[in-house]
Amino acid sequence: MRILVTGGLGYIGSHCCIALHQAGFRPVIYDNLSNSSRHVLEQLEKICGQRFDFIEADLLDPVALQHAFAQYQPEAVFHFAALKAVGESVQQPLRYYQNNVAGTLNLLQQMQQAGCQRLIFSSSATVYGNPQFLPLTEQHPLGATNPYGWTKVMAEQMLQDLCHSQTGFLAIALRYFNPAGAHPSGLIGEDPRGIPNNLMPYVAQTAVGRRPFVSVYGQDYPTPDGTGVRDYIHVMDLAEGHVAAYQQLRSQSGFHAFNLGTGKGDSVLQLIAAFSAAAGREIPYQFSARRPRDIAASYADAGKALQQLGWRTRYDLGQMAEDSWRWQTQYPHGLEPSHDSI
Ligand code: NAD
Ligand code: WQD
Repeated sequence: MRILVTGGLGYIGSHCCIALHQAGFRPVIYDNLSNSSRHVLEQLEKICGQRFDFIEADLLDPVALQHAFAQYQPEAVFHFAALKAVGESVQQPLRYYQNNVAGTLNLLQQMQQAGCQRLIFSSSATVYGNPQFLPLTEQHPLGATNPYGWTKVMAEQMLQDLCHSQTGFLAIALRYFNPAGAHPSGLIGEDPRGIPNNLMPYVAQTAVGRRPFVSVYGQDYPTPDGTGVRDYIHVMDLAEGHVAAYQQLRSQSGFHAFNLGTGKGDSVLQLIAAFSAAAGREIPYQFSARRPRDIAASYADAGKALQQLGWRTRYDLGQMAEDSWRWQTQYPHGLEPSHDSI
């Protein structure tokens, strides 16, 4: 029942470790701490009443991976480890291809050598590029608008090719829409270093007084209130989606892709309103220019995951805001305030 969880101390991986633990699995965390803190381990212990095995190592280190497989003999890998900042990927594309594509390649090679044949991969709705229709189904053509997005398209292609060539290999690409919220305990949550790129952590930091106002990027999109629309999904729903996918498909093989979203879009202004209600205070915002490369709207057709995995989301935007607010108020500067330089 051991699962190797790459990137398991990060935002989504850490929540997934809780869901795995609750389902009776034993996560073994593999993380280089490039975007996370060792303190997450202590928080996981408080939540689960158990300490998880942790290997501090890099995906690009084949020897460390080889040792991890030899020591723990995991039955599967849940692969979260990646760099994820879109703007940074435009500035430093080779770093992103190295970490996300070469890192995944390295992992797959070591899995092959170790005879580990099951992988759950953190993909993203970004693989749909500019939506040609909504809601987005898994059949929507793939593409990307930035190097980060291409790393996800390329990794999915590697997985498909590997599944074609190696009978018995199972690869599940889970295409997340917009993860938000935190564990309801408020002990872990999204802990960005520096200025947050994503909307909900930015709103949360504004609500707690760390930022003066939220810049709303664009008010003239063809959406009901003119601001961008996204499919926000609670991080615990997302975590449970991973467990459902693995439990349903673990005895199968081949490549499978699923959207993990709610199927419903909410606008920037709706998110700010939900957060204001959760925090019990008005959150200041100002309209500004559209962010380059942003799309107007994105939301999932979540039907395939419901039919084939029996999984659907349970939490709404209000719950995401409440849980995010609890985390933000308990740890206004995250778990490692020294990371919070700006
Ligand atoms: P995160 O940065 O919080 O977590 C990623 C973890 O991977 C971090 O703990 C980091 O230290 C680790 N890591 C990165 N490179 C590594 C390497 N070479 N070796 C070992 N560890 C390494 O990010 P997250 O939000 O939890 O995202 C998890 C996954 O989900 C990523 O693959 C990301 O691309 C994908 N995803 C995220 C979002 C989102 O909005 N958060 C949306 C869609 C997909
Ligand atoms: C949401 C909405 C912004 C910040 C990104 C990546 C994507 C995926 C998730 C990994 C948009 C608006 C934002 C702010 C704002 N990551 N906004 N003010 O852009 O949907 O997706 O994260 O796979 O690949 O591109 O998410 O949270 O950045 O933005 O008005 O300060 O909020 O314009 O409409 P996005 P986001």
